[in-house]
Formats: sequence, structure tokens, C-alpha cells
Amino acid sequence: MADVKNPNKHHKHHRLHALLIPYPFQGHVNPFVHLAIKLASQGITVTFVNTHYNHHQINSGDIFAGVRSESGLDIRYATVSDGLPLGFDRSLNHDQYQSALLHVFSAHVEELVESLVGEGVNVMIADTFFVWPSVVARKFGLVCVSFWTEAALVFSLYYHMDLLRIHGHFGAQETRRDLIDYIPGVEAINPKDTASYLQETDISSVVHQIIFKAFEDVKKVDFVLCNTIHQFESKTIHALNSKIPFYAIGPIIPFNLKTGSSVTTSLWSESDCTQWLNTKPAGSVLYISFGSYAHVTKKDLVEIAHGISLSKVNFVWVVRPDIVSSDETNPLPAGFESEAGDRGIVIPWCCQMTVLSHPSIGGFLTHCGWNSILESIWCEVPLLCFPLLTDQVTNRKLVVDDWKIGMNLCEDRGFVGRDEVRMSIGRLMRGESREGVRGAIGRVKMSLEGALECSGSSGENLGLFVDGLVAKVGLSNGKA
Ligand code: UDX
Repeated sequence: MADVKNPNKHHKHHRLHALLIPYPFQGHVNPFVHLAIKLASQGITVTFVNTHYNHHQINSGDIFAGVRSESGLDIRYATVSDGLPLGFDRSLNHDQYQSALLHVFSAHVEELVESLVGEGVNVMIADTFFVWPSVVARKFGLVCVSFWTEAALVFSLYYHMDLLRIHGHFGAQETRRDLIDYIPGVEAINPKDTASYLQETDISSVVHQIIFKAFEDVKKVDFVLCNTIHQFESKTIHALNSKIPFYAIGPIIPFNLKTGSSVTTSLWSESDCTQWLNTKPAGSVLYISFGSYAHVTKKDLVEIAHGISLSKVNFVWVVRPDIVSSDETNPLPAGFESEAGDRGIVIPWCCQMTVLSHPSIGGFLTHCGWNSILESIWCEVPLLCFPLLTDQVTNRKLVVDDWKIGMNLCEDRGFVGRDEVRMSIGRLMRGESREGVRGAIGRVKMSLEGALECSGSSGENLGLFVDGLVAKVGLSNGKA
């Protein structure tokens, strides 16, 4: 993380004013917020855009007010409609929400950009999942940057969808099951480890339409930033770089929460379980969370609950109010919490970094969201993987098969049984293989720390990116 306390020690790029527009989901807003701080710490003026809905959910006014007064960073804050009324249940009606983002959102963004160009905005940094950034940026003469908040491997698979189609690994009536060994910079990968959307045979969903259009649009942007580190995915990044300026600048995670920057980003109100955690022995508690977005079937949730009970492990379980569905309010088996007694607590949401960094946490049963993985590595907490959809499936392969910093919850993704859950939890928290995983995660953590140093790969890439921006803005203003 850049030095938030002392932004002036970095070069000032007074002419740069970047508009940051995250995809309005929790797992995208979080890295965008911390990218905003990182860029502002480089002397860039930033205007961060939240949707009205997320602004309302976060419920803390201008989320950067604290950072601004603590450190004097020039981060401004704006809000925009996502196209739907505030009261619309976006979780229950997910496809309609995505549809609004696909078809309606850009018109609202255009209105906002038009009102801000007078304030000197000259760069737009938008989430790669949007279908419109290059078009909107070109219309207003802005340099266009795409921010990919997930692994470079997943970017590359989507980027090369045409190759997957040609070879019959995607979009065919009978998709091939043999290894995919022709994507530039990507080691042979089993189709079952590609993003879930690339494995589906019905490719007419709204999310597919978004992915198709977004990965056409990203081919026209000026730069891509990626929340990964070079050492993790060097071949993939190298190959992508021959097509598009692609900068690995990760990890972008809120790990400076304790030392200063106070930005609240949670879309649900946080429960504080620090006092409860303080009562538990070091490394004894399993933290369980399936992220912000995916749903779990009631059947799987019940099996996992029984597996947790049978394992007798201490636990903190984040059961989001809509984890099964927002009209299924109490999905846990009757008596689950009373049976657990003082061994465990169930909460609707928390500050995940605060929990993960508590010494009593010894493992993380996770859906393998990319942010959760980076945060867990940062806190050196071994992972137990239960991927649900999208990139999480590919992230599991990186965690378990490649980096060996975690284990699978179930060997067969299609079947979750309570006994297997009990055994996997035991292996992760107390088994012989735990030490190997802990050693591996310690080494991976060191790579993350190294990358962030000024002379580290992400530090250097950030510098190169900012230099590139300065040159490009100069060029497009005719000042170079
Ligand atoms: C999805 C994708 O799977 C993920 O890979 C992508 O990068 C974003 O969208 P999501 O379900 O949001 O993921 O998970 P994740 O990427 O792990 O992000 C969740 C964020 O919410 C993390 O930053 C985590 O710290 C935070 N969180 C989660 C909390 O603050 N409290 C909680 O109780 C749970």
C-alpha cells in the first residue's frame, strides 16, 4: 500500500485527475476504494464514483472523509444511479440488476462524466466487467484504464474466448473435456478449472452477454491494471503484455485498516466479534464466509452446518442475510447455534480483515473470492476451498493445486456431505498436512510483501503505469 500518511513524498502529477468507477458489487468496490487511495498517494486527483444504492447501503456519507482529513489526499466522491430504484431487491432479482448494468448504467455514467469534465477529469478507470468504458472515455476525450480485480489467469481465459470457441472448449453443443493447452502464457488447464461461465452450455445468460461485450471493449482501452502480482502469474502477464499494456499492481487489500486509513465499504452492517475471538486460543478458530455475491443451496448449507458441528471446531460463520435467498431468512438447521454454544458465533457480516488478522483465527473456509484469497494470504491463514461460481472455480486451482496454500472442502464439487466436511475441517485445523500449507502460505505472503516495496514488481509497475498515464494525457492534450 502506498504511504497514505505522507502523500507528498511521491511525485505530484497535478494534471492527472482520474474518475474511478467500480462494478457496484462488494468484491469490486473494496479493491477500487484502495486503488483510489493508492493513486491519490501518488499525487493523482481521484474522483470515486459509488452508485446511489451502494452509497445508501454503506450508510456513512462520503466514505473518504476520514482519509481526506487524516492525510490530505485529494479524493473526491460522487454518486450515480445504477438505473434501478433504491428499494429494488438486487439480490433476489439478480438478472434484472445485471441487465440494468448492461443496458442502462452507461447513460447515467455519461451524464456524470459530462458534469465532471469541467473539473479537469482526464482519465477514467473503470471495472473490466463494464461493457462501455472505451466508448464513454472516447466520447469525452479521457484516457481509458480498465481495472481487473481478479487473477490474470481468469482475464486471459476470457480474453481468449475466441480460441476456446475455435477449439470447441466453449460454446459448443458438446464441449471438449481434454486439456486446454493453447492459450498464450497459460499452462495446460483442465476445462473444469476454468471460470464457471466458460463451462456452461447455455451461453445466452445476461452475464454471458456482459462478458462477451466487456471483453470486446477491453481490447480498445489504453491500459489494464490487475490486482495480482507478477511473481504469481508471470507467464500469463507476459503473454497478455504483448497484446495490451497490462500492469500487475496487487495486492490491493485493506491491510492498513489498523494503521490509519478509515474507509468503510461494507454493504451490510458489520458485527464486531473481537471480544469473542479474544477468549479463544491462538489458531483455534475457523472463519467461514462465502463472500458477498454467490448463493449457496439450502441443502449444501445444511450439510456444511452439520459438518461444522461434528468437527467440534471453534468458528465464526458469516451467514449473509441472502446467502440462500433474500426470502429464506433462517436457512441454518434448527438448534445449530444453541448446539454450538460458546464454540461458535453466527453473524450477518463483519470486517473480514479485522477477523482474519486476529491471532485466534487458524483457518478460512472460503468460496475462493479473489479478495478473500489475497486477504487470507496477507494474514497467513490457510484456506479450505468451496468455490461456488465465476472465477472462484479457477482461484481454487491456484490455491490448492498450484500454490498449495489450501485444501479442498470436497473432492467432488457436485456433492457436499457432512462427514467429508467434518474431515476436511479436521485436516485443515489439526491435520499433519497443516504445517506444509502454513509454510507455503508464509512464503507466498513474503512474495506479496516484496511486490509492494518501491523496488518490488507492483511498486515498479505502478510507477510505470503513472508515467504512461502522464505521457498519454499529455499526448491527448497535445502537450507532450
Ligand atoms: C466475487 C468474485 O468471486 C471475486 O473473485 C471477485 O474478485 C469479486 O466478486 P465476492 O463474493 O465479492 O467475489 O468475494 P471476494 O472477492 O472475496 O470479496 C468479498 C469482500 O468482502 C472481501 O474484500 C472481504 O474482505 C469482504 N467481506 C466479506 C467483509 O468485509 N465481510 C464479510 O463478512 C465478508
